Formats: sequence, structure tokens, C-alpha cells
Amino acid sequence: MLIKKPSDIKPSEITPPKHYKQRRQFIQSGLGLAGAAMVPGLWLPGDAHAAREKLKGVVKSPLSTSEKPTSYKDVTSYNNFYEFGTGKDDPARNAHTLVTKPWTVKVEGEIDKPGDYHLEDLVKASTLEERIYRFRCVEAWSMVIPWVGISLAELIKRFQPTSKAKFVEFTTLYDPKQMPGQKRQVLHWPYVEALRMDEAMNALSILAVGLYGEVLPNQNGAPLRLMVPWKYGFKNIKSIVKIRFTEQMPKTTWALAGPREYGFYANVNPQVNHPRWSQARERVIGSGSLFTRRKKTLMFNGYEEQVAHLYSGMDLKKYF
Ligand code: MTE
Repeated sequence: MLIKKPSDIKPSEITPPKHYKQRRQFIQSGLGLAGAAMVPGLWLPGDAHAAREKLKGVVKSPLSTSEKPTSYKDVTSYNNFYEFGTGKDDPARNAHTLVTKPWTVKVEGEIDKPGDYHLEDLVKASTLEERIYRFRCVEAWSMVIPWVGISLAELIKRFQPTSKAKFVEFTTLYDPKQMPGQKRQVLHWPYVEALRMDEAMNALSILAVGLYGEVLPNQNGAPLRLMVPWKYGFKNIKSIVKIRFTEQMPKTTWALAGPREYGFYANVNPQVNHPRWSQARERVIGSGSLFTRRKKTLMFNGYEEQVAHLYSGMDLKKYF
């Protein structure tokens, strides 16, 4: 592998964000705001914010945590999105090349209603909910993020899965022109992730289209990304163009890249360490010094009550 993967990146190598551009909103709005570029180290509410797009009709979900959300700046400038580079500040700097409108999602496999769906139609037919979720990356850092999303279970029901549908596979866009990181073989492209059907149908699983009440910034996986809060961050695939229902367990990108390090399930579990580091604690992004504030990681990232039953009787050391 030419470039470091998350597992190879030490906390000491993490660089704070320097630049920020909201080029996508710039393009979408057609406003051409000259001041949309960020001055390094400064967050100017007057310019980039003005071009951001608010989402209408968002209802608050009772499934939200009451914990204080991580700042918008941290959520949108400290990212993993290897299609735009492997540094934490690369996605915010580079993801403006992704064109998110129009956006079509191909839905296929073991369902009665396959087809190419316009994202707008999928979203229009669903309730937009704000879900404030804990988010825990496999690299042992965490955030609290106010997503705006639609219920994955409700969406799946509309596609009418057959009795053979045991897994749901998601695929990210493959287009090295828009996603220049795909020109380097850091991972097997396109990025693929999957869930077991009962995980996908769990009430916590959503497809996010926004955060902080606004359209999802490109670096966070616009225009559509998965959010399953009891699993490590890498399961939460970004910029989804395909949803496929299968009988067999799909081969997923990180499990292919490092089968001994990244399992299919990827449930947050403080008792099962990554082969190269402990998963018992997490660094809370944005609270105190980057290197000092660590808190205990909770089983299933604190969502044990809602999801533990999905894994009853399973050896979670084996099925990590
Ligand atoms: N999806 C794609 N397509 N490409 C990626 O590199 N990175 C994953 C996940 N989804 C990734 C992806 C990882 S490792 C993490 S931790 C989360 O996205 C980060 O999401 P965030 O940047 O919105 O915090």
C-alpha cells in the first residue's frame, strides 16, 4: 500500500485543519461569492456560511443523544474520505470537485422494485429527521454529530426485498475525475460497505443527507451517506450511488484491505481491541487538548439497549 490507511496514522501525525472551502454550495447556489474561501485558522461566519443550504421540514428524533454536539467546524474539517486524500484536512480542501446534483441511486438485487431513483424523490417520500448521534472512529476518536437523515428501514421497505435479501451492500461513486484520490490504489475502489438486513432495518440506521440542519457538506459524504452509530466510522459509507440486496455476505472495502484488522461487523466494542491498539478509550474531538481528553468507550458506542439483541449468542471476538 502506497499511502497510510487510518490504522497507520498515529495521533501525533494529525494536523489541525487549515483551509476550508464551500465550493459545492458555491456551485449549487450559483452565487459566486468571492469570499467563500477560508482564511487559515479562522472561521468567518459571513462568507462560507452564507452559501450554506438549510434543509426544510426537519423533525427532531427522540433517538437523539442529549450530549453536546461537536462544533460544526470540527465535524466538517476533520474527516476521513480517502477519495479526496488520506489526511484529515484533505476532504474539506479537495471535495469541492464532487458534483452532487443531480444524483441517482441505483437499487438492485433481491427486491421487487429495482430501479434508478432520483435522490430527491427518495428524500421527498421520507420524513427528514434530526438524529444527534455519537460517532466513534476505529482510530479511537469520537464526535457527537447532529445528522439530518431518513430512516433506512422505511426506505428499504419501499423497495420490497424478497425473502432472499440477507444483506444490503452500499457503493460509493467511482469517478477519479471528481474523486482524485481514486487515482491512487490506497483502497480497492469503489468503496463498498454492507450491513446484515436486520442491522439495516434497525430503528437507529439512517441515510444522512445533512448535518446541523443543512445540506451535507461534500467532505461529510454528500449527498447521501450511511449512519449506523453503534459501528465504527468506516462502516458509514459516503456518497452512495448504489444499494444492492444480496443473499451472500458482500465483500467490503476495509475487510478486503485488512481482514485481520477490520471485520464485517465493526461494532464498537471496548473489550475487543484492534490488533495494534486498544479500543477501550476514545479521544473526544474538540474537548480540551487534542491529546489529553480521553473517555471510556461504551459497548456498542452507548447503543447497547437498542442493538445488543442483534448479536445475541454471537462470539463478538470472532465476529468483530
Ligand atoms: N466513505 C468513503 N466512501 N470513503 C472513505 O474514505 N471513510 C470512512 C467513512 N466513510 C470513508 C467513508 C471512515 S474511516 C470514517 S471514520 C467516516 O467515513 C468519517 O466520516 P466523517 O468524515 O463524516 O466524520
